[in-house]
Amino acid sequence: MGREGWNELAAWRDRRMGERGDLWHRAILDPTLLAVLGPVRGLRILDLGCGNGYLTRRWAREGAADSVGVDLSPVSLGFARRRERRRPSGARFVLRAGSDLSGFADASFDRVVAHMSLMDIEDAKGTVREVGRVLAERGRFVFSISHPCFDIDLRSKWVVEGERGAETVYRQVTGYRTEKVVRVPWKVSASETAHTLSYHRPLPTYLRYLREAGLAVVRMEEPTPRAEAIQKSAQGAFLRQIPLHLVFEAVPVGKWSGTRGHPRAVRRRASRTSGRTPAAVGPRSGSRGRTRGSGSAGRGSTTGS
Ligand SMILES: C[S@@+](CC[C@H](N)C(=O)[O-])C[C@H]1O[C@@H](n2cnc3c(N)ncnc32)[C@H](O)[C@@H]1O
Repeated sequence: MGREGWNELAAWRDRRMGERGDLWHRAILDPTLLAVLGPVRGLRILDLGCGNGYLTRRWAREGAADSVGVDLSPVSLGFARRRERRRPSGARFVLRAGSDLSGFADASFDRVVAHMSLMDIEDAKGTVREVGRVLAERGRFVFSISHPCFDIDLRSKWVVEGERGAETVYRQVTGYRTEKVVRVPWKVSASETAHTLSYHRPLPTYLRYLREAGLAVVRMEEPTPRAEAIQKSAQGAFLRQIPLHLVFEAVPVGKWSGTRGHPRAVRRRASRTSGRTPAAVGPRSGSRGRTRGSGSAGRGSTTGS
């Protein structure tokens, strides 16, 4: 179902995304993602979960030394390759699961981007591990996801109270702490609904996967909608108040922090010399006690991404 759902959705998504992205991407997600990513000229860039490859192709046109899109869905890649044949940019497209980037050498990319794909990838842990492997020493991993606090699959929704113009907007959520696989419905025509699988994970899960892959977050953004999104989408004004997405930048820890190599290797080296694990290398959460006001839990119906 993982692949089948995306295959089913591929034609609909390709029509919506075109060469510039749909409204949601153009006016909410992409400006932040692209700002975090920065210029790509001369860089080797991997677009992980590339869909119809509109960004892979954009980066090739912008002068990336190599722009490669990988995706699990052969049908999506078919649309990407068709676009590339019609208007060549130099981008390449490879059928791969994110958790198996075999065929790509260690340290072979300067940037890996996973735009709205990690929460749709079943083996996110294996995928992040592979990202850590293929990322070059001074590389950067930039990814966006549905906001796990405010957009918890189908269990979150908008609540609006008060008079028009002076309303208070809430996000009702439940089940935040519970990792869950959800069958997301996408209405692709008046009579047809396709389904994909999405994987809700609390934020620390992503952070743990990154840490275990030797990556550390150095930047986190919550994209704000542009005027076009406010004008054209029913939820635009609400999105000014509560973000439904996150964009992260992560870098290889060893190189970024001045330690040498993968954190686990550093810890092993340190424990051989001192018999203990240095706190500076493998910090643990110090939080104790209880959190009050447990919040909890959607996408597809809300995000259109
Ligand atoms: C929401 S779409 C995002 C596509 C594109 N990045 C964009 O922003 O338009 C999620 C993509 O992740 C891909 N995907 C799902 N599971 C995957 C996996 N295990 N490995 C690689 N790609 C995967 C899907 O086929 C789909 O194209």
